[in-house]
Parts: sequence; C-alpha cells; structure tokens
Amino acid sequence: MTTDFSLPDYLDHRKKLIENHLFSYFPEETGEYGAICAAVRYSLLAGGKRIRPVLCLAAAEATSGKIEEAMPAACALEMIHTYSLIHDDLPAMDNDDYRRGRLTSHKVFGEDMAVLAGDALLTEAFRTLTDRDKMPATHPERILNVAGEIAEAAGYRGMVGGQALDVRAVEKQGDLENLYAIHRHKTGALLRVSLRAGAMIAGAKPEALTALTAYGERIGLAFQIADDMLNVEGDQKLMGKKTGSDAKQGKVTFPGLIGMEASRARAVDLVAGAIAFLDGFDEKAMPLRAIAHYIMDRKS
Ligand code: IPE
Ligand code: IPE
Ligand code: MG
Ligand code: MG
Repeated sequence: MTTDFSLPDYLDHRKKLIENHLFSYFPEETGEYGAICAAVRYSLLAGGKRIRPVLCLAAAEATSGKIEEAMPAACALEMIHTYSLIHDDLPAMDNDDYRRGRLTSHKVFGEDMAVLAGDALLTEAFRTLTDRDKMPATHPERILNVAGEIAEAAGYRGMVGGQALDVRAVEKQGDLENLYAIHRHKTGALLRVSLRAGAMIAGAKPEALTALTAYGERIGLAFQIADDMLNVEGDQKLMGKKTGSDAKQGKVTFPGLIGMEASRARAVDLVAGAIAFLDGFDEKAMPLRAIAHYIMDRKS
C-alpha cells in the first residue's frame, strides 16, 4: 500500500464490493417469496455506510488474509445489522419513519412484514456464513468459531441485550456506567466481532486478535458516542434519519449525560487508544488507522 492512501476511495471501493456480494446473495425473487424478498432487499440494499463489513474485511487484510474468504462473514454482519435497524425503527421500539434516506420498512410494507424482513435477514446471515461453497479455502473450524462468536455478539449477551437495556433506560435515571453498558452491548458488540471475525477467518495469531479486539472495543464505543452526538447536531439529510429524537424520547445518551464537549473528548481519547493497539501492525493496517478517525469525524 502506498502512502497516498485515500480513505474515501478505499471506503467507496469496499462498499461497492460488499454491495455487489449482498446483491448476489439476495437475488430478486418472484412468486411465493416475492413479497418478503422485496421487503428484505428494500432495507438491505438501501445504502448505509457498511462499516461492519468494511471493518471485517480490513481486519482480514491487516492480518494477511484474503478479502474473498472474509466476504460471507462481512455480508452476514451487514444482514444482522440491517435486521437490527428494521426492528429498532418499529413503533414498539424507536418508532422512526426514516432510515437510510428512505421510509422505514414498516411504513412501506407494514409492521408484520417489517418484523419478518428482520427475521429473514438474521437467519439468512447464518446461512451465508455457514455456506461452505462460499469459503472453500477456510477451515470449517474457523467458520464454526466465527459463527458462534457472531451469534453471541448479536444475541442477548450482546446487541439484543443492549437494545433491551436501551428501551428500558428511559424509565430510569441514567448514570455513566449504565450508559457504557448500553453502548458496549447495543453497538459495541457487533463492531468488535466484525474485527474478530475477519481476523479469525484469516487465521490471525493470538496477539493480533487480542490487539484487534481492543481496537474494536474502543472504536465501538466511540462510534456510538458519535451517533449520539450526530443525533444532536447532525444534518438530517446527510444522515438519512431523523435527528433530535433522542432528547425528545428521553433517551440516555452521552451528550445528555455529560454534554457535547466532554462527549467529544471521550470519543477522541477512545480513537487514539484504539490506534495505539495497532502499533504492532504494518502498513496493511493503514485502513484501520484511518477508519478510527473517520468513526469520529463522519457526518452520517
Ligand atoms: C446506526 O448504525 C445504528 C447504530 C448502531 C448506531 P450505522 O450508523 O452503522 O447505520 P448505517 O448502516 O450506516 O445506516
Ligand atoms: C440502534 O441504536 C442500535 C441497533 C439497532 C442495535 P439507536 O436507536 O441509537 O440508533 P439510530 O439512531 O436509530 O440509528
Ligand atoms: Mg434504538
Ligand atoms: Mg433508533
């Protein structure tokens, strides 16, 4: 990799590659599965930053793995993330009308189909992840370990657990420790496992896996702090979703608890701490270093 590395070009290139695979894993269906397939494709192919699959591929790259071998895991992570957004937007949860610049799934297809579209994405993620034909060169044990870790990170010990804390948090007086726990689970767990999955498929050495996990924990937390801050000061058009909703709904957030400046300072510290864990890596980790800054500086 040369020193004139451009993160926007890198992200653009990776996003296209990931989206091409998502398209091929979810071809258009006609006939009896047409309606549910259309609902799934509406949300999955609507855009979004694709940061989880990008991180998964970048972790594989940083540990000398092959991008193609990590692609099914990368896409599975994006499917799980998209399912979580569809369900997060439902009237029973955050009741949001816009996501990724378009009407939310339940607004277009109805609540019943939105629930099912999420269910379909979650299950399809594990079908994709365990399809041996998609990863012919990867040892089955690695795939099994990755599937287990992703299931744990997405489930009640991870993302779902965080969402459960989040929906109940409005009823309680929030404190910082509680807020960290929410963020670490609802957003952090999936970002952290995105890095681990890429590195595990690449067969990373234990020290490299430990360093990438530590990097993932820090950027995971910084990512959600940035999300909370963008909800306060972000541009609704760029974000493709409503801003100002956290305060309106009485959500426990970093800016709400410690203010914007202290939130920014914490995220900056976390990003610097994350990058420090990449000291032992060569230039193949340059994308990960740049992504850590982007997590904080992003506008959407
Ligand atoms: C939004 O995630 C929800 C959070 C977990 C903070 P992203 O900011 O990654 O959303 P997309 O995928 O780009 O739409
Ligand atoms: C969404 O969190 C997190 C998950 C879907 C796991 P938020 O509710 O804070 O995110 P936005 O603001 O709707 O994207
Ligand atoms: Mg929510
Ligand atoms: Mg929400």
